[in-house]
Amino acid sequence: MSIYENKQKILAIPGSLREASLMRHLLRTLPQIAPDDMEITIFDLHEIPLYNQDIEDAAGFPPGVQAFRDAVSASDGLIIATSEYNGSVPGVLKNSIDWASRQGLLAKRPVALISGSPGALGATKAQEHLRSIVSHLGMYALPRPAVAIPKLQDKLEDNKITDELTRKFVSQWLEAFQDWIEQLNK
Ligand code: FNR
Repeated sequence: MSIYENKQKILAIPGSLREASLMRHLLRTLPQIAPDDMEITIFDLHEIPLYNQDIEDAAGFPPGVQAFRDAVSASDGLIIATSEYNGSVPGVLKNSIDWASRQGLLAKRPVALISGSPGALGATKAQEHLRSIVSHLGMYALPRPAVAIPKLQDKLEDNKITDELTRKFVSQWLEAFQDWIEQLNK
């Protein structure tokens, strides 16, 4: 039984900009398997410029950054989907986290991490780096289950996870995240 009168609002961030991004496709599958009272909205990072403290000092947050920060503030928790670039998180994702982190906005926010790759390892290294980053910020990262999906392109079709075992793991992970947020709000 959820403690939420309305739906739990989750902001889901794909750590990639490309049109055919596996991370965005993965996030689009989530609403179908999420608990009924969880509402998942995808936030794309296209409008986030490169971080430059001169810009922040002179003019505050650029509009795309402010929109991102407002969406974070309005959410009950974040989901971040990362692919792996050269053994770590993509620069666009780290850059967006840097903007969002200003003035402590991300501290104490629940977050669930997920990763995937076309290769055999599921971007586990990037996910661990991401875990280290969000922990550094004082975010409350769902400790388990951890979900890292190898050969992701073979498991997604028409906004659905076609591989049954993967779908089950991801759905259990969403339920665990819902419980995690509820525990943190007690
Ligand atoms: C990659 N890719 C990759 N994959 C991996 O498993 N480990 C890695 O270290 C890297 N490194 C890497 C660097 C760069 C610059 C690119 C462009 C790609 C492959 C990458 O995971 C793959 O392209 C994903 O599909 C990218 O995520 P999206 O865009 O599909 O969400």
